Amino acid sequence: MARGNAATEHHVVSIAAPTADETVLVIGPGPGVGLAAVAERARTVIGVDPSREMLELSARRCAGAVDDGVVVLRHATAARTGAEDESVDVVLGVNNLHLWDDRAAAWSELRRVLRPSGRMVLSAHEKWLSVTRHELAAEVEAAGFTDVQTWTWQPPGPLAGLAVQLRAWRAG
Ligand SMILES: C[S@@+](CC[C@H](N)C(=O)[O-])C[C@H]1O[C@@H](n2cnc3c(N)ncnc32)[C@H](O)[C@@H]1O
Repeated sequence: MARGNAATEHHVVSIAAPTADETVLVIGPGPGVGLAAVAERARTVIGVDPSREMLELSARRCAGAVDDGVVVLRHATAARTGAEDESVDVVLGVNNLHLWDDRAAAWSELRRVLRPSGRMVLSAHEKWLSVTRHELAAEVEAAGFTDVQTWTWQPPGPLAGLAVQLRAWRAG
């Protein structure tokens, strides 16, 4: 998983472009490739994942940053992150949107934890999504996000499937 999804993780981090004074919430970091990339750029990175096995892999990959307090790992989900209200600048998520069992609850939660004007960048395998990217954008807009953009992106590699990506800002 780490190798197959790495290009997408890096692509999403480059789109979100977190800065050294920002707090980033990574949804479903899995083995932690995106977490490690964000930890090189942001002040604090919180990774939430319901899989203890994946949290362990992330902890191993980001051991130095965990020791330094830059990376914080939490047994949690997109719909219940455990983050404070308006406490994060950026939400990122790669290849786990199709696993969220209640997307409406997740949009509400992610809006709650983002600061006003905070941004969210998500990427998902198109073939595993149960909705189109336009339906996804409409959901996100209805949940209180603005300037919602979606597009498709082809990850490198002969076997990589098309990704649906989305960027939005929390309305003020
Ligand atoms: C296919 S892996 C992708 C991991 C990583 N983002 C990557 O691209 O390599 C999906 C990850 O999402 C996590 N996950 C599943 N349901 C979730 C949920 N409701 N909220 C947050 N993460 C979830 C899984 O435990 C797993 O670590």
